[in-house]
Amino acid sequence: MTTQPTPSTHRPSHRLSPSAHPLGIDFGGTGIKGAPVDLELGDFAQERVRVRTPQPATPEAVAAVFSELLAHFPDATGPVGVTVPGIVRHGVVHSAANIDGSWVGTDADRLITEATGREVHVVNDADAAGLAEVRYGAARGREGLVIVTTLGTGIGAALVFDGVLVPNAELGHLEIGGRDAETWAANSAREREDLSMAAWAERLTTYYRTLEKLFSPDLFVVGGGVSKRSDEFLPLLDLDTEIVPASLRNKAGVVGAALYACEG
Ligand code: BGC
Repeated sequence: MTTQPTPSTHRPSHRLSPSAHPLGIDFGGTGIKGAPVDLELGDFAQERVRVRTPQPATPEAVAAVFSELLAHFPDATGPVGVTVPGIVRHGVVHSAANIDGSWVGTDADRLITEATGREVHVVNDADAAGLAEVRYGAARGREGLVIVTTLGTGIGAALVFDGVLVPNAELGHLEIGGRDAETWAANSAREREDLSMAAWAERLTTYYRTLEKLFSPDLFVVGGGVSKRSDEFLPLLDLDTEIVPASLRNKAGVVGAALYACEG
């Protein structure tokens, strides 16, 4: 007799009416941003609210800030999606390269659901950006393998094949030249070492060429705050694969989190 796997209670599967606006929250090292999202348009349904990330940014302290943020949007009653810059499996956080170490092992779905009294689903930040760019942004309508990368404090990466996300790719932590790639090629490395765009572009070429060798993708999308300066570095990259800037820019996390909360 074959037994059916028990469906995970962590997997969001809502079909909201088109007029419902789930909330997306983007949890970053310095700021926490949230807004109700219009999933038809892939855009904020109301102006977003930004609050400072508490320090230390422990799960409990951050969850309390999420509750405050939710109070700004009393009409957004659906599920809530939250990005976390770490590996997330079945609602539990498994890594914390650039956030407080106490997140590791935290059942964030449960903790934030209990703290806020709302149904919360957490998702890796790059995966949220990847979902949003594929559904509404720079990779909309693209078939095959799209790799969405975010260049910030770390390097986030989402692998999306024919519109389906393979979660937690964590390609920022590939070892390249004996180093953790993000410590050498993230935007934070450019700032820390005061690299020229040309010098940084050389490192990015090495990084994206490694991804090409491993995955033969059809498209790279480059997000993160620095993507608004993409004219200054993308033309300097020497790659075989098409590479384009993200189009949702700093909305991708919030929009992708809301989408994830509804569709997984
Ligand atoms: C983390 C990833 C995250 C990325 C961008 C990395 O250090 O390991 O989970 O997506 O930073 O925030």
